[in-house]
Amino acid sequence: MSWWQREDLRYLGGELTLAGESLAAVAEQSGTPTFVYSAGRVLDKLAGLQAALDARALPCQVFYALKANRHPELLAALRNSGRCGIDVCSPRELLLALEAGFAEAEITYTGTAISAADWEVICRHPGSYLNCDSLSGIRQLGERSPGREIGLRINPQLTASHLEKISYAGEKASKFGIYPDRFAEALALAAHYDMPVTTLHFHSGSGYLDGELEDFGEILARLSGFIDQAGSIRHIDIGGGLGVPLREGEAPLNLERWATMLAGFLLPRGLTLQLEPGDYLVKDAGLLLLEVCAVEEKGGTEFVFVNGGFNLSNLYAYYGYPTVVAPLAEPGEEMPRRVSVAGNINEGIDLLAEDILLPPLAEGDVLAFLNVGGYSASSSSDHCMRGEYREVVIPSA
Ligand SMILES: Cc1ncc(COP(=O)(O)O)c(C=O)c1O
Repeated sequence: MSWWQREDLRYLGGELTLAGESLAAVAEQSGTPTFVYSAGRVLDKLAGLQAALDARALPCQVFYALKANRHPELLAALRNSGRCGIDVCSPRELLLALEAGFAEAEITYTGTAISAADWEVICRHPGSYLNCDSLSGIRQLGERSPGREIGLRINPQLTASHLEKISYAGEKASKFGIYPDRFAEALALAAHYDMPVTTLHFHSGSGYLDGELEDFGEILARLSGFIDQAGSIRHIDIGGGLGVPLREGEAPLNLERWATMLAGFLLPRGLTLQLEPGDYLVKDAGLLLLEVCAVEEKGGTEFVFVNGGFNLSNLYAYYGYPTVVAPLAEPGEEMPRRVSVAGNINEGIDLLAEDILLPPLAEGDVLAFLNVGGYSASSSSDHCMRGEYREVVIPSA
């Protein structure tokens, strides 16, 4: 059995199913490209997170990071669960969260490069949490809304991510967060505008799994100095970054270990937890159905061409993670072929996987590309005017 199969994503009677639905039937009805999401999977992941934190009596607020996937039905399912708020990073995301029925007090805003027009929208919603990511941000807000309670996003100069391109703290200077050497200045600026600093925020990278928990613990340890220096912190916002296994052999995040670390740090200090998971909730709840347009050998490589590209699924082109490709019919005894999967965009980087094993394929076959529930539809582009796709949400049972 392939490593990625699980109770709600597996071959049943020879057909690939998600949340009990035949994906061949979805492809038949909706055509391709089509993203398919399981709302049940998203809610189960949220419930699992919450249970691990509740078991340690850790007061916490979960804010789903809207940037990962903003499908209205998923937002509605999350809101109706009553278990989470929303994390946003732009004015339009803020307005979408409000439209989806989240109250200001259920929204946290952590953005970068905030323009005057952005501030105008943000300041119209003073009830939401706001984390300032820079000294200029504190000043710009202070000039417009003195007295507003704020959080400060700091840069702990260490990442728990194992992926260079989604690491936002480390040796190389990053645009994110306030560095330790300017933290005192940031506090003084906040004080100048009478803005109490009650939250300390960090998001140092994405995709951390069990193997990165030690670094995560080290980041927590680094917070102590900031907390003491500020003297007014009530909440620690650990951002998002919780990952899901994307290739064989990757050990999933051990939520028990993770929650124990957090409780050990926060409870003795009387601090509450805020977190902003995106990918962790949605990535493995979604897949993309694409059709095989051609199979052809070029320069010694067998290419499988499909009717969607890196504009829809960027995991491999951007981050070097081979997308897991699953045929809709369970592979039988046929000898698998070693192939590369290429999209329909006129760019050399338009590959979805290289050098992977797939059963022999024919034009018209449909393939499922897994783990694209996050940062795929929501960050897709219309490159080559090929940005069209459908989305199907399988409701939770
Ligand atoms: C401030 C902040 N919070 C949360 C997230 C969500 O991260 P992830 O999807 O890795 O959980 C991001 C992602 O970039 C972020 O920048």
